[in-house]
Amino acid sequence: MDRIIVEGGHRLVGEVHVSGAKNAALPMLAALLLARGTHCLRNVPDLADVRTLCNLFEIMGAKAERGSGSRADAITLTIGDVLEPEAPYELVRTMRASVLVLGPLVARCGRARVSLPGGCAIGARPIDQHLKGLERLGATIVLEHGYVEARADQLIGGSFTFDVISVTGTENLMMAACLAKGRTVLENAACEPEIVALANLLNAMGGRVQGAGTPVITIEGVEAMHPVEFPIIPDRIEAGTFLVAAALTQGDILVKGALPEHLEALLQKLRDTGASITVEAGGVRCQGDDVILPTDVKTLPHPGFPTDMQAQLMVLLSVAKGSSMVTETVFENRFMHVLELSRMGADIRIDGKVALVKGVQHLSGAPVMATDLRASASLILAGLRARGQTEIRRVYHLDRGYERMEEKLRALGAHIERVKR
Ligand code: UD1
Repeated sequence: MDRIIVEGGHRLVGEVHVSGAKNAALPMLAALLLARGTHCLRNVPDLADVRTLCNLFEIMGAKAERGSGSRADAITLTIGDVLEPEAPYELVRTMRASVLVLGPLVARCGRARVSLPGGCAIGARPIDQHLKGLERLGATIVLEHGYVEARADQLIGGSFTFDVISVTGTENLMMAACLAKGRTVLENAACEPEIVALANLLNAMGGRVQGAGTPVITIEGVEAMHPVEFPIIPDRIEAGTFLVAAALTQGDILVKGALPEHLEALLQKLRDTGASITVEAGGVRCQGDDVILPTDVKTLPHPGFPTDMQAQLMVLLSVAKGSSMVTETVFENRFMHVLELSRMGADIRIDGKVALVKGVQHLSGAPVMATDLRASASLILAGLRARGQTEIRRVYHLDRGYERMEEKLRALGAHIERVKR
């Protein structure tokens, strides 16, 4: 298994380009299943999760191909008339987001069989909202042998109110409703920028989706959709991670391609800690201050502070001048990085959903273990700030969601390398 070694204590300075968003690419790729023909998505990040989804498409009988040369960031997907609508356990267990094929497959093929994702490091993460919503559209759902099987000769539009705000749940139902007969209204829907991006793609394919980005989304079903060529939006979590890196190392980084309107809650928190944020024509700049101020933060669905940035911001707060309170309300077990950060000298106490972070003067490099995707990014950030060497193990988590992270950090002046095995 690869390891990443970071020699801390270097200011990060320069420009970095943000990649396409993982969390937009996955639902947008799944949405292509709704229409036969040859589609092309541009600005698709080259990540383990994207490759997993493409493998899944191949198993279903579709053809997925990454472009080369100047089109290296494009994926061409050819969907034939016949698909094998099944997502096996071997793939779903490595990536929960595989569940995103459920809605498009049942809408397009009348049947879908997808392995249940099961638990994961950051909590139980059920998919009951996806299933209740599909039932509301007339699908019959059977859970058997660890698989969920959904059937419907023709989905019928209906109203559904989410009990819990779910990003992929909203996406699954939006996609399914595109080929349902009549109108679907989704209430208490997620409002993330990736939902808006998916709606834009669906509309470009001939769908009729309105209200994405607000809690009420209306979808008028259409009979068929058509192939499309479409770009993926920039990754706001990758962008945010680099902005925190600038604040943490008293650096100065321009994150090119970052969209400030997707980052408002984070930018506000960075300003609260004393960093200087400027929106420039090509992106967002963060300049770190010598003194990092404490601040309290609570994760919430968009437009609140994103849970996917909680671990990274906590590293910044761990070296602030004073105490901060970090409250995680989206996932029930998302403080796995705290134990590893404590091994690097951070002073953090957890009480249920709340972490009390007392700023320390220094972090010290240590061997640490990544437990999930965003936790692995936080350990790299901690390593950049720490005195001495940090060795991060289990970096396959990082490779699921960050494209060429070490290479991008090295170009900014980080002393970081990957040791391959
Ligand atoms: C997506 C993102 C993930 C991010 C998360 C929250 C993708 C591919 N992943 O994950 O990076 O951290 O949103 O912003 O876009 N829940 C239920 N029942 C359901 C669905 C969810 O109880 O049917 C609960 C979950 O356990 C969790 C909360 O709702 O506590 C939010 O989960 P959800 O928004 O569904 O997360 P994902 O879509 O899996």
